[in-house]
Order: sequence, then structure tokens, then C-alpha cells
Amino acid sequence: MASDRPIAVGLLGLGVVGGGVARALADKAAAIEASVGRPVRLAAALVAHPRKRRSDVPAGLRITGEPSEILDDPAVDIVVEVIGGEEPAFGYIQRALHHGKHVVTANKEVMAKHGPEVLAHAAEHGVSIGFEGSVGAGIPIIGPLLRELAANEIGAVNAIINGTTNYMLTRMASDGLEYADALAAAQRLGYTEADPASDVDGDDAAYKLAILSSLAFRTTVRDTDVYREGIAKLAPADFAYAAELGYAIKLVAIAKRVGDLLQARVHPAFLPLAHPLAKVDGVYNAVELEGDLVDWAMFQGPGAGARPTTSAVLGDVISIAQAVAAGAPPARPPVLDRKLRIQPMADLETKYYLRLRASDRPGVMAQITRVLGDLRVSLASVIQKEVADAAGTAEIVITTHTAKESAVQEAVTKLAALDVVLEVSNLVRVEDPGS
Ligand SMILES: NC(=O)c1ccc[n+]([C@@H]2O[C@H](COP(=O)([O-])OP(=O)(O)OC[C@H]3O[C@@H](n4cnc5c(N)ncnc54)[C@H](OP(=O)(O)O)[C@@H]3O)[C@@H](O)[C@H]2O)c1
Repeated sequence: MASDRPIAVGLLGLGVVGGGVARALADKAAAIEASVGRPVRLAAALVAHPRKRRSDVPAGLRITGEPSEILDDPAVDIVVEVIGGEEPAFGYIQRALHHGKHVVTANKEVMAKHGPEVLAHAAEHGVSIGFEGSVGAGIPIIGPLLRELAANEIGAVNAIINGTTNYMLTRMASDGLEYADALAAAQRLGYTEADPASDVDGDDAAYKLAILSSLAFRTTVRDTDVYREGIAKLAPADFAYAAELGYAIKLVAIAKRVGDLLQARVHPAFLPLAHPLAKVDGVYNAVELEGDLVDWAMFQGPGAGARPTTSAVLGDVISIAQAVAAGAPPARPPVLDRKLRIQPMADLETKYYLRLRASDRPGVMAQITRVLGDLRVSLASVIQKEVADAAGTAEIVITTHTAKESAVQEAVTKLAALDVVLEVSNLVRVEDPGS
């Protein structure tokens, strides 16, 4: 028998995102009821500090510090987890699923580390799990991968999925900022966590790429499978040379199928200025997918913030509530039925940019090109500039044709050992995804 009882949502976390979800559920109650066919009401919110004064939450909201008041309450239909971090969030999600509650989460760390277990647990208990907010905040990307693009064989996912680093790289490129100053600027604007390591070291993007590539390639990709390199070694000189050579520098997240192998990597890269991802600036994120039917599709939007993340979280809440109201069974969970192996990074073949400082005297270039030539790394361009210092050094910038990562890494070691080379300052991959 159809019920008109309100669908009850229990909120775990009432911070940046949780506060946004609570406010939007109250502000948009009428529109959500019209879309779902039944009212959707917030039952209670769990927080770490229940006594904290909170000005910007809906009047009358029940706030608790006791998880069982939500997780074990039979009246709660949908649990929204926006606490963040691995624990206790993972335990709470599993407990909610165990009690037959649908779950919506924006937690990339839990989904990257434990996604397959969470999906299996939801299926076992006949409930839905939504995690659109876990990647790219407001950008719809999980839904399209699971539904609208489901007929495609996905060949590649190329993305910029960390807003903090994209903001920093944009400032370094446009204003010539040093890394430390770009980080300070991001911190001043509240774009970083208290500890920015997860953003700048590439961990956050690796979590998101693990989630996206698991769904895109229907295989289990854990966060630990994703190669990652952060942005801390980039210097103003790299941005100046990139511009001179016609490139932008971005922290890219690339997953690509190569036969039965899967590349999954997060690292800074030179992208041709004309590439769509090169034009994604500031805190914006973008995900580009290659599918055998759709060809290329690109999704772009704000990659962080209370309102964009609320948009994704409530989208999941509404679609689950619609199914609950209709008495429909939960959507079939994503199937991860393939066993693709991760391609070792040493086997990657791409192009490279190399910046080094060497003695400014005859024969130096010959020694450098011999090292590269012996390892079959062929040069695409060389820039040599005198450095105004007493030691008489030159800065040499080399770009290569496609070469094997293992050969390039060996070349870097050998170049660093040459007497004439004072420093190998940076090595950055040069990508043209989709070309
Ligand atoms: N912020 C964004 O732009 C964004 C974008 C996309 C996805 N996300 C994801 O959304 C989630 C939430 O992020 P956020 O920025 O909203 O975090 P946040 O502002 O730090 O809020 C966390 C909330 O969880 C509560 N909490 C923390 N530990 C708890 C515990 N052990 N038990 C119960 N409650 C606890 C906190 O309580 P108190 O209020 O009492 O301290 C707070 O209300 C994370 O998974 C994050 O990755 C965030």
C-alpha cells in the first residue's frame, strides 16, 4: 500500500557540506516533495561536538552526538554521510547499510579504499548507495558513468579533479608565484584542508581517480593502485618554459586502458594550450571520457564547496527517495566484473620535459645528448639559456619524443651523475590525452 509518510533522512556530519545539505533540504522542501511524491524530512544530524553553537542550521533541527540515534533508528530511511575521513565514517556507512538504510556519501577516501565492500554490502541488504559527491563535487560524473554512458566501452578518463592544486597552478602560471606563495594564497582563501598534504601530494586526486576508473573500466582500482606525484617540485621557470613551448601545466589524473592493462596515474603534466583540460582554471574541475559510442564527452564544473557538493548529495537523495516512494527496488549496483592489471609505471610511454643546470662550456650538450641517445630517448626540442651567475652555468630544457618511462628515469640518473650537470631540476611528463 502506498504511504504518504515523509521519507526520513539522517545526516552524519553538519560541517561545510552537511550544513549545506541541511539548509537545502529545508529551503527546497516543497520542490523536493513535488519531485519525489512524498515529503523528505531531516530527522537528525550527528556531530562530533553537539554543544557547539551553530548559527546557520535550520531551526528545530535535532542535533546529536550519539550515532545510534540515527544508525539504529528504524524510522530513518536514508543516511547521508558527510563526516569525511576513513573512520568512523566507513564503520557508520556499513552499519547503516546493515540496518537496511539507503546511504548517500560524499566520502572519496572511504569509496576509494573500501568501495567494492560498500557496494557489495548495499547489494546484500537490498539498499542503494549513492556517491556522486565523492568526485568532482557538483559535476555529475558518477551518474553518467553508471547510466547515461553505460553502453560505452570506456577507453580513457582524463581529468583535473583537485580544485586546490588547480587553483595553485593557475596562480603560478598567471602571476608567476612560487609554489609556497601559491599554497599560502590557497590557504588564505580556505581552499585547503588544515593539512594540505592530501591535495598537493596527489592523494586526493588519486582517491577520486580510483573511484572513476573502477566504474569506467568495471574493475577494482584501489587508491594504492594509482601512481601519484605531487606539484611541490614545480617552479616559476617550469611555467615560463611551458608557456614558451605552448603548454599549460596541470595536475592530471589519467586512467587509460592498454589491452588487458590499465594505466592509473596522477602527476603534473604539460598539456598543449589548445587542449580542453589546459583551459580549466582556478578551483574548477573537469573530467573527459572517451567512449566507443560517444567518442569524447567532457564534464566541467566547480570541484568543491558546500553548494556544489550539496547539489550532488541531494541529487542522490532525491533519486533514492523517488525509488522508495514508488516502492521500486534499489538500482542494480555497479558491476566490477573485470580483472584488469595495473600497468607498471616503468612501462609507460609518453613524452617528457626535462630541465637541468649544467656548466656553460663547449661539449656539454654533446655529453647530455649522448646519455639520452644511448637510452633511445630522442629529442624533440632543446632550449639553452645562460644563467646570470658567477659559476657560468646554463639552463637546458629538453623535450623528448615518445619514450619509455624506465629509459627516461635511467637517463635522469645518468645525467645527474655527469660532472658537467649541476642539477636535474625537474622532469615533467608531456601529455596530449585523446590525441
Ligand atoms: N568541503 C567540500 O568542498 C567537499 C567537496 C566534496 C566532497 N567533500 C566531502 O564531504 C565530506 C565532509 O566534508 P566537509 O568539508 O563538510 O567536512 P567538515 O566541514 O570538516 O565537517 C565534518 C562534520 O562531521 C562532524 N564529525 C567529525 N568527526 C565526527 C565524528 N567522529 N563523529 C560524528 N561527527 C563527526 C563534524 O562535527 P562538528 O561540527 O561537531 O565538528 C562536522 O559537522 C568529506 O568526505 C569531504 O571529502 C567535501
